[in-house]
Amino acid sequence: MCGIVGYVGTREASELLLEALEKLEYRGYDSAGIALICDAGIVIHKTRGRIADLRRIFDEATDDDGCTVGIGHTRWATHGEPSDVNSHPHLSKSKRVAVVHNGIIENYIELRRHLEQHGYTFSTETDSEVVSELIDYCYSGDPVAAVRKAEQQLKGSYALGILFSDFPDQIIALRKDSPLIIGLGEGENFIASDIPAILKHTRNVFRLGERELAVLTAQRVRVLDIFGNRVDHPVDHIDWDAAAAEKGGYPHFMIKEIFEQPEAIRKTLAPRIREDLSIDLGFKRLTDEDLKGIESIKITACGSAYHVGVVAKHFLQKNLRLPVEAVLASEFRYEDPIVDEKTLVIIVSQSGETLDTLYALREAKARGARTVSIVNVLASSIANESEEVLYTWAGPEIAVATTKAYSTQLALIQLFGLHMARIRGNLSEEEVKSQITALQKVPEGVEKLLEDVKSVQYIASLYFNCQDVFFIGRNMDYALSLEASLKLKEISYIHSEAYAAGELKHGTISLIEDGTLVIALCTYRPLLEKMISNIKEVSARGAKVLAVINESDVQTGTVADHIIRIPECADIALPLLTIVPLQLFAYYIASLKGCDIDKPRNLAKSVTVE
Ligand code: AGP
Repeated sequence: MCGIVGYVGTREASELLLEALEKLEYRGYDSAGIALICDAGIVIHKTRGRIADLRRIFDEATDDDGCTVGIGHTRWATHGEPSDVNSHPHLSKSKRVAVVHNGIIENYIELRRHLEQHGYTFSTETDSEVVSELIDYCYSGDPVAAVRKAEQQLKGSYALGILFSDFPDQIIALRKDSPLIIGLGEGENFIASDIPAILKHTRNVFRLGERELAVLTAQRVRVLDIFGNRVDHPVDHIDWDAAAAEKGGYPHFMIKEIFEQPEAIRKTLAPRIREDLSIDLGFKRLTDEDLKGIESIKITACGSAYHVGVVAKHFLQKNLRLPVEAVLASEFRYEDPIVDEKTLVIIVSQSGETLDTLYALREAKARGARTVSIVNVLASSIANESEEVLYTWAGPEIAVATTKAYSTQLALIQLFGLHMARIRGNLSEEEVKSQITALQKVPEGVEKLLEDVKSVQYIASLYFNCQDVFFIGRNMDYALSLEASLKLKEISYIHSEAYAAGELKHGTISLIEDGTLVIALCTYRPLLEKMISNIKEVSARGAKVLAVINESDVQTGTVADHIIRIPECADIALPLLTIVPLQLFAYYIASLKGCDIDKPRNLAKSVTVE
């Protein structure tokens, strides 16, 4: 999704902005640009393509050295194709106001018509251009007043960085429903969509609140709420190792993050499990009594985070004997959901900023549901707005394809499930303790799987040219198939689908022909025999079968073409282990195909539009 950066200080802004934009490349983008305040006024450089293209254009064109204030943008096209003209920043025709925008202005057509009636003209297909012209229209000498007046007319979501040529020493920032952080330096200040963009320059940051406006100069940052009142935010100190946001010798962030999973799971679980195996989630609002009174659970999220919900549905339903449903956040909001104060809504999001998920959370709260979010990014919107938050301590996840965030979310939701099962008396104390111990052993199991990646590499080398892949599984394995299939298709561009194994013959089996790869997940022990029958059905129609099996399984290997073994472990650990070779499989296939693994085409890391 679009990325925003801004700098005001005494250093050369252009290089700083270009570097910061490079750190946001992982979010996904198709064009980029910067605006600088120079002696001649606001100067814009922008282009379709990569930051490297922007650098080239800037180097060729510029004599804008010495500018110390500017804003930058990576655009992920929504309204209007990726093109030079549609790229941000947008400069008002008066050349007084430049704007970078992340989000969607939902009433831009109406605003555009209104401005056209007042003589304004538009040259792009974007919704964002209306913002620079609207602010210009509202401007009569006071930039804060102009931005506040314009804001009252905007509908939709927006994080904005704004320059005024009349005020060459400042940046104005504003946000609603799209993320924006402020970074505080010594004699310089920053805005950014995400921390990695400015981590090199400052570790002192805070998130701008909903509908808050910030005025940044080199010396100070002033924050105002919607009514113009001063707001003070506590400053967070980011203690990430700067190397955590670098590749550290790995060819891609994705493989680095796959290998970081044992540590990430350890860091997520350890602080919450005491020596006597009691669980401390640090909840302040949701009491044990509240959790005892819960009558149903809904888990809502998008993409891989939703897949965590589908696995968790099986786990929670089995252990809590409550109705549990996993619902796509983009559907939840509009389905008139049946939730009330006896419903627990669990929101899962790595970024904590996914707009559909944020809106689902708000919908749940508006209907009185109790809410717990599972989030990786500290103080993000979803973390801030949910009743309780459980942070996954996975560290920064840069690759668009999630791996360590997925596994830490899953481990954490399972731990939460055990906590509820203990409180509600669904499981004996002995059973809870044995499952906690099994969870604690997951990092070792993952390490074991990562010690030998050669067999996965070999199978990938046989199939990297294939056109279609079908994943099949039952129960928990089906839930995992959804994630395995998404991983493969998003980074390798191979068409893949996940099917509940019993469902394939109700239509899709017609697509199986000689040599089609079917990946059969066969770790869910109670239904192993049924899976073997399903493997035979597809083999009989020419499919090549890769089966993922438990170490002790002596049957399935005899009916599959290839096998990957999962080290022996308790049932609770199985999904956390099984996903690892499938992440690796997707990675090695994409690598053999020469794909842009960390930044797959058309994708964004954090999806901040509906
Ligand atoms: C998967 O690899 C994705 N990057 C994507 O599906 C992601 O899980 C989804 O967009 C949700 O993001 P979130 O966890 O930040 O809310």
